[in-house]
Amino acid sequence: MQRVVGIEQWRRLAEDQRGAGRRIGLVATMGALHRGHQSLIAAARANGDYVIMTIFVNPRQFNDPTDLRAYPRTPEADRALAESMGVDALVEPVMAEMWPAYPDPTPTTVSVAGLGDVLEGAGRPGHFDGVASVVAKLAIVTGPSRAYFGEKDFQQLAVVRRMVLDLGLDVEVVGCPIVRDDDGLALSSRNVRLGPESRLRALSLSRALGLAGDLDGPASAMRAAMRATMEAAGVVVGYAEVVDPATLRALDDDAVGRARALVAGVVDGVRLIDNREVELRRGP
Ligand code: PAF
Repeated sequence: MQRVVGIEQWRRLAEDQRGAGRRIGLVATMGALHRGHQSLIAAARANGDYVIMTIFVNPRQFNDPTDLRAYPRTPEADRALAESMGVDALVEPVMAEMWPAYPDPTPTTVSVAGLGDVLEGAGRPGHFDGVASVVAKLAIVTGPSRAYFGEKDFQQLAVVRRMVLDLGLDVEVVGCPIVRDDDGLALSSRNVRLGPESRLRALSLSRALGLAGDLDGPASAMRAAMRATMEAAGVVVGYAEVVDPATLRALDDDAVGRARALVAGVVDGVRLIDNREVELRRGP
């Protein structure tokens, strides 16, 4: 596995690979790698891509400095895992090259209006601007044929898809299924901050989504069931929503067909999100 830090070396490496006829698969991460990230690497390898993984804890997507400080950092373990999973090149860019103005605000921002302002975006202003800006830069420097993102961050996936469409980036965005622990908890780098009791509370998120899926609609019944399940477990509910998967607009009880149920909640100080596909039927 090649290791790269400097932006020029990173750009050249990618150019060389493309020049040699390889298709690059980009797996963008903030480190603290887990099986969810492994599934992205595996998907890129299954497609025969030359896999470039980036690890960069992007301060622009944290609107809470405490959250940024608390974000887990496990560089040695990440490098070992990337190598063992067959990542071809690991890029760990430095702040001075990613955001030269930092810690002052970066003048250039990519913003996906609408999609980035609801759900997670409503409670975390600027979060998706930070995500869209960093993903745009990673994609511009890397020039991948495909970029892999987990469906766990469903809104992020929608924002990235829209940004790629609107900016005309020549990259296929590949969404990969959520990876869960045996007890149903969706894998997240934040899960390491959950003690045993908190973890039990956190399971109410996937349980709530399971209930919503079993209901088969309408949307309002799903919302109510999800919220009640999480509240009963002592989770501070951020949202329990049923939305159109592409526009992320909340659906009413007239909506039928495939939709996405999304939940967010704070469990003993740790903010968690989860989602699943659901099927809506018309209400009585
Ligand atoms: O999903 C993440 O880990 C981050 O939001 C991403 C896509 C690497 C951008 O910093």
